[in-house]
Amino acid sequence: MTAAQVATSAGIQPELALAAIPADERVWVPQADAVWFRPLLLNTVTGGWCNLLRVRRSGVLHRHRHPMAVVGLVIRGRWKYLEHEWTAEEGSFVYEPPGEIHTLTVPADCPEMITFFNIAGAMIYLDERGTQVGYEDVWSKIEMCRAHYARVGLGASYVDQFVR
Ligand SMILES: [Fe+2]
Repeated sequence: MTAAQVATSAGIQPELALAAIPADERVWVPQADAVWFRPLLLNTVTGGWCNLLRVRRSGVLHRHRHPMAVVGLVIRGRWKYLEHEWTAEEGSFVYEPPGEIHTLTVPADCPEMITFFNIAGAMIYLDERGTQVGYEDVWSKIEMCRAHYARVGLGASYVDQFVR
């Protein structure tokens, strides 16, 4: 019996295999000034998501805390956290432990960075005193996608292909 003949469980969720960097610019969802994300997997079962984050020069991903672990892999360009000395370069792997707080910026001499992030749980946005000023979770990411895809003509349901 070959692998293709082994029966899978009934009701199993469909797999995903897609071009991570989309040909259609509209797939990128605006997040902040000069910051976009491209949803890859919006996981409503575990409560987390995988996406590409794209930040162009002068873009800043606002200070936030991760209550759960994050891993990332830099695909293009480079970036740094204001709170750390190191710079994540193209090809770098990054692990962000639960409790980590940081603010992502792109160096002035780097026109664009794209990084794959696998984010568990949520992102808790903080002001300069550490007080919560907002949050994102898989449900708010889905809503952002729905609103954007409706606005750009792909249709709100375009996001459904990334939801599990
Ligand atoms: Fe982060």
